[in-house]
Amino acid sequence: MNILTAKENSPYKGGIFQKHDAKSAAGEWDLVFISNSYDETFEVGCELGRKLKRGDVVALSGALGTGKTCLCTGICRAVGVKDLVTSPTYTIIHEYEGVFPVYHIDAYRLSGAEDFENCGGGEAMRGDGLTLIEWGGRVGVCLPDETVHIDIKITNSGQREIFVKSAGDFRSRN
Ligand SMILES: Nc1ncnc2c1ncn2[C@@H]1O[C@H](COP(=O)(O)OP(=O)(O)O)[C@@H](O)[C@H]1O
Ligand SMILES: [Mg+2]
Repeated sequence: MNILTAKENSPYKGGIFQKHDAKSAAGEWDLVFISNSYDETFEVGCELGRKLKRGDVVALSGALGTGKTCLCTGICRAVGVKDLVTSPTYTIIHEYEGVFPVYHIDAYRLSGAEDFENCGGGEAMRGDGLTLIEWGGRVGVCLPDETVHIDIKITNSGQREIFVKSAGDFRSRN
């Protein structure tokens, strides 16, 4: 497995490691990051956020406490959200104003497609903003083909592995 520091071989700054050759390292994923801290995961979110645009849908998966909300906070910051970003676990959906609207949804407590529609998830996705959905797998049938998928895993040593893929290749976005 080929792991290089950001400084050596990628535009990613700081102490974040990006695994190159992600295809062979992790199957079909476009990008894989290793994060050693909350701040690094936030920074990965910022980097990904710079590649996201109005109308995009991002579905995040990963166990409780892996850093989904942390990553969303970084994405929000990159698209100009100034407000404090908090977990929508109990409120289901938060709306922020950045350079475009950002809808931050936590689907953990939703029972499926109908629930998602009722809480405003469908309207958010059809709207003119960026939609971020934690526990996106719970509403998988509602997700468009173009959804950007992010999965976070905790390694044995407590690091976070952050996997990214989209229709086309996420790396080709600019
Ligand atoms: N590398 C890391 N990336 C993100 N969070 C981390 C990391 N290491 C430890 N943490 C801690 O894990 C927790 C992640 O919380 P959160 O982002 O709310 O997770 P989730 O939304 O997936 O439940 C935070 O308490 C954070 O401090
Ligand atoms: Mg969360």
